[in-house]
Amino acid sequence: MAKFGDILNPPEKEGKEKHVPVIEAPSSVKAGEAFDVTVVVGKEVAHPNTIEHHIKWIQIYASIEGRPNNPVHVATFDVGPTFGDPKVTFPMKLENSASIFALEYCNIHGVWENSVDITVE
Ligand SMILES: [Fe+2]
Repeated sequence: MAKFGDILNPPEKEGKEKHVPVIEAPSSVKAGEAFDVTVVVGKEVAHPNTIEHHIKWIQIYASIEGRPNNPVHVATFDVGPTFGDPKVTFPMKLENSASIFALEYCNIHGVWENSVDITVE
């Protein structure tokens, strides 16, 4: 049986266009205090943004330390095509340390992933 994880593109598999969702977030936060998370696709080299070739969506999940049902869905953004750039910022709060996962879908090059760890002090 095929598994979805087998077709995810990891950050190290990068092509001529930049697909990896770059996650900008603090590495440590205070419990329960809001902080901003920005996810951008094509931060260094812009990805095409046309009807024919674009980033369609960005999804964010969190794997939270000590939580039994991981991961949890944090946010989904529909950003394509043509008018919405693949860059989103949203406020988030954590009570426990977590790994934040970002997925993005290019209509030609598939689903790409990245992650960062955030420590709750
Ligand atoms: Fe692409």
